[in-house]
Amino acid sequence: MSDRAWSTSAPAKVILLGEHAVVFGKPALSVAIGLRLRCQIRPSNVSTLNGISLTQQNYSYVSACLAKHNAGPTAVVTDSDFPSGSGLGSSAAVTVALLAALSSAEGRLREDVVAKEAFEVECEVQGRASPIDTSTCAHGGGILVKKEGSDGLLWEIVKDTRRWCVHDIKVPSMTLVVGFTGKAAPTGPLVAKVKRYVDRSTFARDIIDEIGDITLDGAAQLAKGDLEGLGRTMTKDHKLLAILGVSSPELDKLVASVLPHSYGAKLTGAGGGGSMVALTDQPQKVMEVIRRKGGQPFVGVTGVPGVRIE
Ligand code: MEV
Repeated sequence: MSDRAWSTSAPAKVILLGEHAVVFGKPALSVAIGLRLRCQIRPSNVSTLNGISLTQQNYSYVSACLAKHNAGPTAVVTDSDFPSGSGLGSSAAVTVALLAALSSAEGRLREDVVAKEAFEVECEVQGRASPIDTSTCAHGGGILVKKEGSDGLLWEIVKDTRRWCVHDIKVPSMTLVVGFTGKAAPTGPLVAKVKRYVDRSTFARDIIDEIGDITLDGAAQLAKGDLEGLGRTMTKDHKLLAILGVSSPELDKLVASVLPHSYGAKLTGAGGGGSMVALTDQPQKVMEVIRRKGGQPFVGVTGVPGVRIE
């Protein structure tokens, strides 16, 4: 790495449909939103994140990114508009932004390469993962992941028997309000919990299939600009995710309280805490309700760029 600093940023993501099922190779639909994580790297005597030395135990995503690029000691500084563990893709955003900074320093930044490397880092650290979070943070805009490639195909990612074709999709103007429960929830254990359930239960496998099916319905509704239909599909997805055991009383409470003012609402990301998202045309009202119920609201502006050099 040359002696200068390299700065990048990557957006937060909101999964509209398909989380968890996508880890089993099913489709998923997500958007990047206008909250960003910024990352700066420069050569140093020891590797640090925000001034704290990297060890085997802490900051595994950062260490894995540095190892992937065989980087010498590096000072990494991050600064984020959104909390970590909030279900908005903080680990994906830090991974994508850091890999992009390392690639820029090497003079070879490519969005598809960053997306693929970031997926490998997530698998390494998280245990099991899909490319939905990392591809959304890398590309921005709207993303549909599914088995077969079609119009808008960006890249294809294969892992053991699973194959995800990552597509760029047009996102109509719409308002998303995110409600953070305030409870950070790491993704790895929730993904592992769903895997255990699916391994021993045909019922759980049917739920995964159903989430995959309704995700494709939702993608068609989004493409037609049918926000009422998409909202209904999102609410249905929340119920299926709750049956899988990844909702929480806080998430259920926030989802139920915003439904009278929304087309639909659901948990977003791994669940277990983290955040929910509402599709609504009454953002102020929904934000007020989320605040009243103890959550932290954010407005998710869509149509934002993916990873970029700052
Ligand atoms: C987490 O944001 C989304 C999950 O589906 C995990 C993944 O896709 O890697 C729960």
